[in-house]
Amino acid sequence: MSATPHREPTVSPLDVEAVRRDFPALHQEVHGKPLVYLDNAASSLTPTPVLEAIEGFYTRDRANVHRGIHELSQRATAAYDATREVVARFLHAARPEEVVHVRGTTEAINLVAATWGPAHLGPGDEVVITQSEHHANIVPWQLLCERTGATLRAIPIDATGQWILEEARRLIGPRTKLVACGHVSNALGTINPVAEVIALAKAQGALVLLDGAQGAPHLPIDVQALGADFYCFSAHKLCGPTGAGVLWGRYELLEAMPPYQAGGDMIEQVTLERSTFQAPPLRFEAGTPNIAGVIGLGAALTYLEELGRERIAAYEEELHQYAAARLAEVDRLIPVGTAPAKVPVFSFTVDGAHPTDVGYLLDSQGIAVRTGHHCAQPVMAAFGLSATARASLAFYNTRDEVDRLVEALHKVIGWL
Ligand code: ALA
Repeated sequence: MSATPHREPTVSPLDVEAVRRDFPALHQEVHGKPLVYLDNAASSLTPTPVLEAIEGFYTRDRANVHRGIHELSQRATAAYDATREVVARFLHAARPEEVVHVRGTTEAINLVAATWGPAHLGPGDEVVITQSEHHANIVPWQLLCERTGATLRAIPIDATGQWILEEARRLIGPRTKLVACGHVSNALGTINPVAEVIALAKAQGALVLLDGAQGAPHLPIDVQALGADFYCFSAHKLCGPTGAGVLWGRYELLEAMPPYQAGGDMIEQVTLERSTFQAPPLRFEAGTPNIAGVIGLGAALTYLEELGRERIAAYEEELHQYAAARLAEVDRLIPVGTAPAKVPVFSFTVDGAHPTDVGYLLDSQGIAVRTGHHCAQPVMAAFGLSATARASLAFYNTRDEVDRLVEALHKVIGWL
């Protein structure tokens, strides 16, 4: 019998201990215990290079952008504009002008609803979402449909938390003008079959908006290959600052969209009678933007790029498998969302305990998880629940931390 040939891994493994040294917030005690931070789907922690980029702006280059010929404004503008290139690379966008800086995924979705929406929807038209959406990808479409007379439809999920594609084929039809759906479910971690749904939408001539808030932190993104029309994500789930995020849109769509908010920097010419507007993306960036946030986002994506997206994904997948196996050992833990394709997000209930109590008891042992409806009440309703506990892992978590979670859950269950 011949020996199995030795294969070199295509990328060297992530040095997680070195990575952890980049995250100051990891190195603290909570309630007298070393912190185990497993609430990354709500917000990730911030590495030193991002903190330094933000500090560098405030301590050296602190000035407004696109408004000054003086040195500080030039530096701030260069750093702000450079992020657009970094984001375009991260998303594999055709050009940086397709990247609009916004406050986060929520604002990105609201921007499309407020600008593209009224210009394209009316009675008889339909917007299709899914039952696994975050409220930020439900409520803007509800309000828009109320305003325009269009109809909102939702693709249901099955008992594992996956979209029922048969229903998608039935719901996406000639009246569909837009399909707005999540790349990855925030409440369950399901990686959704967006390629299938994009194909269904395209066959009907409908546009597709992908909520990438939970996809971008875990999956490689290539907006051109995906074939979607809009992609949205938030900096704070990608090691960046809060209050910054991105709307990516195909340039010709952005170009045809009316302004969003009105004010400085989005205009070309203003008279007292009328105004003309900048081309995208500046058309959608009225007022002084979140300059430090955008610079921090650029630093965060550069940091992830330097660690290696493939390396991060390989590490996360291995940790995911380990955590799934360890959590399966916990009696009375009921997993919620058991799709085969998932990111390392584990929603669960514990038989005999309210998720909020589970969350408090875990916190008392230094373990941070999120509990509640996760801004996804229709998902909870699909499972007949009002809340779950959710442990969400990032590439700086470790097997030891998963073990700490499992031990703590055993303890919690012992206390019931
Ligand atoms: N949308 C974030 C979450 O899933 C806040 O927790």
